[in-house]
Amino acid sequence: MSLANALPGLDVAGGDVVRLPKPHPGMLFGKGKVAELKQRIEVDEIELVLIDGSVTPVQQRNLEREWKVKLLDRTGLILEIFADRAATREGVLQVELAALSYQRTRLVRAWTHLERQRGGLGFVGGPGETQIEADRRAIDEQMVKLKRQLAKVAQTRELHRAARAKVPYPVVALVGYTNAGKSTLFNRLTGAEVMAKDMLFATLDPTMRAVELPHGLNVILSDTVGFISDLPTQLVAAFRATLEEVLDADLIVHVRDISHPESELQASDVDTILEHLGVSDEVTRLELWNKADALDDEGRATATNLAARRDDVYLGSALTGQGLDALLQRIAGELTAALREDVLTLPFAAGRARAWLHDEGAIRSETQGGDGTRVSLRWTERQASRFAATFPDLMTDPTKGTDDAAPPAAPGPWHP
Ligand code: GTP
Repeated sequence: MSLANALPGLDVAGGDVVRLPKPHPGMLFGKGKVAELKQRIEVDEIELVLIDGSVTPVQQRNLEREWKVKLLDRTGLILEIFADRAATREGVLQVELAALSYQRTRLVRAWTHLERQRGGLGFVGGPGETQIEADRRAIDEQMVKLKRQLAKVAQTRELHRAARAKVPYPVVALVGYTNAGKSTLFNRLTGAEVMAKDMLFATLDPTMRAVELPHGLNVILSDTVGFISDLPTQLVAAFRATLEEVLDADLIVHVRDISHPESELQASDVDTILEHLGVSDEVTRLELWNKADALDDEGRATATNLAARRDDVYLGSALTGQGLDALLQRIAGELTAALREDVLTLPFAAGRARAWLHDEGAIRSETQGGDGTRVSLRWTERQASRFAATFPDLMTDPTKGTDDAAPPAAPGPWHP
């Protein structure tokens, strides 16, 4: 239902759960149900029917004919929404590609069905096949073109990312179920306009901005596309493009709509998706229980209680700003505390490693010694382990944590 609301111009007339012990191959529903729904469709003058599940091309055609409506299944609807939302070149291309691959499978399946019907008549290679084959070839060619364009766009993104890597700010990614309030939070923190509407997928494409947190710590805040459950497989690539940013994040803020009746379920879906993406457990994850302002007194009391029991949870509202200061303090604290100090002696021949450290913004100072360059570093755990993986010979110097400069005191306490 909320998926349907995401498409502008739709006036949702109602919804129904239909038990399907055994889906009917031709019509999906049994005869009686088809007739019953037909009557309702006529009375309410329904023009579009959405089915939250998958519908075969044959079922779709039969039902459309029988009910005189347009029918979309779940993948079809999500594709419509994506097409409506995609804002960047890459988003648009990914959606087109997903739509084509969806169409292609449907062509094939429709054809298999026809073929079976005609099989007995020996029509193999008849006119139908030529048309289907031609359609398929046209789709294939179009897909090849799109993939080529996408490869180019991905290259540009790599360049952007490389450019960003030179700005040595930690990255904080906002993730969450669709409509949880990520864009609202992002806008509040950055003062930017990112199309916050009461619509799903308002952020199909990643948005990043530098933000100054308490204690003058600069971070890059990254707003990501909203997650949904049961994402059809053809659409996963369109998401990946935007979610790759999460893999780069130094800290993840999971924004949850705590006023939503299915908040728990949504949260576990988000966790599953993060896990599948390969987000490491080592990256600090905090939760903002958002929309606290929308809770009634009882709901707020319960949420306050639950949140107080967890160290990683902040109850607040992106809309009113309530509770956000504590969250920001914590983020700043986590990121500063997470920096470690090391001193390494790099042999003069290790120019590439030195350049790497400069690019990452990890070097605080360096002095020339007899046996090489002594660099003193301030960097994240992840930078250190990436360095160790790239230059295994150079990380042997166990001067880790030389406390000549203790890390700045963490601001606290987080929970007042
Ligand atoms: P996607 O882009 O679909 O992933 O959504 P999103 O998570 O970016 O949500 P968005 O910020 O667009 O907010 C969705 C709706 O929730 C909007 O109507 C917001 O005004 C509303 N909203 C966001 N935060 C709050 C809040 O703290 N309280 C209340 N009451 N509403 C909020």
